[in-house]
Amino acid sequence: MPIKKIGVVGCGLMGRGIAEVSAKAGYDVVASEINKDLLDKGMAAVRVSLSKAVEKGKLAQSDMDAILARIKGTTDMKDFKDCNLVVEAAIENLDLKKKIFIDLDRICPPDTILSTNTSCLSVMDVAAVTNRPAKVLGCHFFNPVPLMKLLELVKTITTSKETLETAVEWGKSLGKTVIIAPDRPGFIVNRSFLPYMVEAFEMYESGVATREDIDTGVQLGLNHPMGPLTLADMVGLDTLLFVMDAIYAETKNPKFVAPVLLRKMVTAGHLGRKTGKGFYDYK
Ligand SMILES: NC(=O)c1ccc[n+]([C@@H]2O[C@H](COP(=O)([O-])OP(=O)(O)OC[C@H]3O[C@@H](n4cnc5c(N)ncnc54)[C@H](O)[C@@H]3O)[C@@H](O)[C@H]2O)c1
Repeated sequence: MPIKKIGVVGCGLMGRGIAEVSAKAGYDVVASEINKDLLDKGMAAVRVSLSKAVEKGKLAQSDMDAILARIKGTTDMKDFKDCNLVVEAAIENLDLKKKIFIDLDRICPPDTILSTNTSCLSVMDVAAVTNRPAKVLGCHFFNPVPLMKLLELVKTITTSKETLETAVEWGKSLGKTVIIAPDRPGFIVNRSFLPYMVEAFEMYESGVATREDIDTGVQLGLNHPMGPLTLADMVGLDTLLFVMDAIYAETKNPKFVAPVLLRKMVTAGHLGRKTGKGFYDYK
């Protein structure tokens, strides 16, 4: 089935990026939100993101206008009725995602591929509420979507070969490098990343190294763009805690036990950049 029209559920941080890169690649896009204010906010953010590319000379104004014209914003899920592939990027809540998948399954034709951008929930759990589990997979983009090159496609035990192949082609057409991850907690990237984060938190808490030396060591020694504590502040400590708790709940693997310090910082409201304080002070 040729992919021509993409649906994106949720126009938050991730959804707006997925809508932008899809329209940029030439697809017609329908992007939904729960109300008009949030939809306007999401669409305005797409406009700002594209304007920056125009200012830097990376995109012609006429191309920006054409990209925006390909994105239709909506607050009515029925507008997904002629989409070939839908990416759900609503908040990370399994009950909400299941409800969205039940609605999408009812609204979209049987050959439409349904996917979720979940960071840590089980893709099989949302596939199971539909009548088309072979057509469901995870499409895990990274933030910020227009800049990050990776797309982690998550194959469940019921995802068909054809669905996966179509999604791989779509991902490549967006300019992303595609990897195939199992539907296991953390997929590939977070499963590698979180134990490394835990180690950095523990080194910091036990006082064996300063936060600056931990960050500088990893940044320069491993050639990472930033150290783990700076990265934790950027991602948001509440998000990290949520992901770790979700992965631990499913695996009971001690590698994913959230450090006590992380939990205390979240309780204190020290969530990183977004609250002005995390491992570093941003005020
Ligand atoms: N933020 C990240 O770095 C990141 C990275 C990878 C994956 N994810 C995953 O992507 C998903 C979205 O994350 P985000 O950071 O964009 O969250 P966000 O809170 O910025 O955006 C979610 C949006 O979904 C909207 N929404 C909720 N219910 C909806 C519905 N029924 N219909 C339409 N819109 C609805 C909300 O109003 C909100 O604007 C989550 O599953 C998250 O785990 C996030």
